[in-house]
Amino acid sequence: MAPPTSITFFNFMISTYLILSQISVTFMKGHALERSLAAESNYHTVHVSSILPSSACKPSAKGPSRKSSLKVVHRHGPCHQLNQESSNRETLTETLSEDETRVKSIQARHAFRADTDKIRGSKADLPAKSGIAIGTGNYVVSVGLGTPAKSYTLAFDTGSDLTWTQCEPCVRVCYKQQDPIYDPVKSSSYSNISCNAAQCSALSSTPGTRTGCSASNCLYGIQYGDQSFSIGFFAKERLTLTPTDVFDEFFFGCGQNNQGLFGKTSGLLGLGRDPLSTVSQTARKYGKYFSYCLPTKSGSNGHLTFGKGSVPNTVKFAPFSSSRSQLNSLYFLDIQSISVGGQLLSISASVFQTAGNVVDSGTVITRLPPAAYSALRSAFRQQMSQYKTAPATSTLDTCYDFSSQSTMKIPKISIFFSGNVKVDLGIEGTLFALSLSQVCLAFAGNSAATDVGIYGNTQQQTFEVVYDVAGGKLGFAPGGCS
Ligand SMILES: *[C@@H]1O[C@H](CO)[C@@H](O)[C@H](O)[C@H]1NC(C)=O
Repeated sequence: MAPPTSITFFNFMISTYLILSQISVTFMKGHALERSLAAESNYHTVHVSSILPSSACKPSAKGPSRKSSLKVVHRHGPCHQLNQESSNRETLTETLSEDETRVKSIQARHAFRADTDKIRGSKADLPAKSGIAIGTGNYVVSVGLGTPAKSYTLAFDTGSDLTWTQCEPCVRVCYKQQDPIYDPVKSSSYSNISCNAAQCSALSSTPGTRTGCSASNCLYGIQYGDQSFSIGFFAKERLTLTPTDVFDEFFFGCGQNNQGLFGKTSGLLGLGRDPLSTVSQTARKYGKYFSYCLPTKSGSNGHLTFGKGSVPNTVKFAPFSSSRSQLNSLYFLDIQSISVGGQLLSISASVFQTAGNVVDSGTVITRLPPAAYSALRSAFRQQMSQYKTAPATSTLDTCYDFSSQSTMKIPKISIFFSGNVKVDLGIEGTLFALSLSQVCLAFAGNSAATDVGIYGNTQQQTFEVVYDVAGGKLGFAPGGCS
């Protein structure tokens, strides 16, 4: 799908604007033994049963014990009550194709931002041509909104900034969601933002958003790269993350026209770096510090936690890429090298530096520069040569048929980030199984060396991922959740 033109988007804004104004309503031994042990530790020995995602929700051993913590579940996993269709092949194939759309939009936006940088000053005249595609790889959390607070399931997204929810009276369109739709009339803490307010004009510099005005009320429009969008009133409201984490005057979008790939969620929780993101708006309390653990599909102890609170001391931090993060609300981290089965791939450092790399909670499969991916793929294929290959699927081109195997030895993959941070991926971060007869290497290559790389959520699963935005760094610790 090509990124939509700003004309189409502008038409949406105009028509929504018209409709809104008309009715004036406007997330062995000796050396040999040593060598053999070393060799063993370079492989995951896995049983077939652990390759396919479980269709049952694993109950969590410990409850959400941390402070300022929200429970995170996979939108297509059995632990998610909004999940009705089981995670079958079709859903997985769809996930991969929507993932590609998200990747293209991140890359387009990155390119657009780079352009913006060149013509600094005239930014307002440029079309906001691309946002981030929502895709299906997202994880969801529940937050409270309004007074009295009611609970809403939002997809959380480090790749976008504005938080919005579908909002009564749904002047144009609200898609079907699981929770009752948020109704400002039933909340004593809701208020509209006027067109004159500074926050209204600030909106237009938030990536992917537009502003408008109707009966002196500020309108927002946010469009994602997959043509999903939300348009409505820009408003403020009381946000309740946990009973002790309450924020008055939280700026958000009260969506009157919402269409696209949002599933049955009520909207989106933006965790980017822009001043309007949830991270910035809660900075006074949490110091722009948050962490999460994305569970595997059947895991039930994932979390999204705000503040420094109980971050494990095993976290290793890598600095944000110094040159890239300024004009962009995305989180850039430098990759330096990759090892497969204990062997460091020979990839020149400049390969990773050409376009940089973003860490994104919503992209499913990690995208590498073409030269890096081809080195990874050759090493992986070579070490997997004893297994029967299977056809490629969508973006994944290195697949195996394990249907006649009981245990497999899979080479371990480690990613080296700048700051001496080595991330050893587990099996869930290495393979993406469509079925036992089609289990693929969970990485893909970008088509051009100039496309930004993306460290996706398959590889982040089970790690404690810590964003110290004020400190300019991002950290990883294994074993954050299951
Ligand atoms: C917000 O603006 C809309 C449209 O003008 C209006 O219908 C609604 O009553 C306003 N809400 C409040 C609380 O002022």
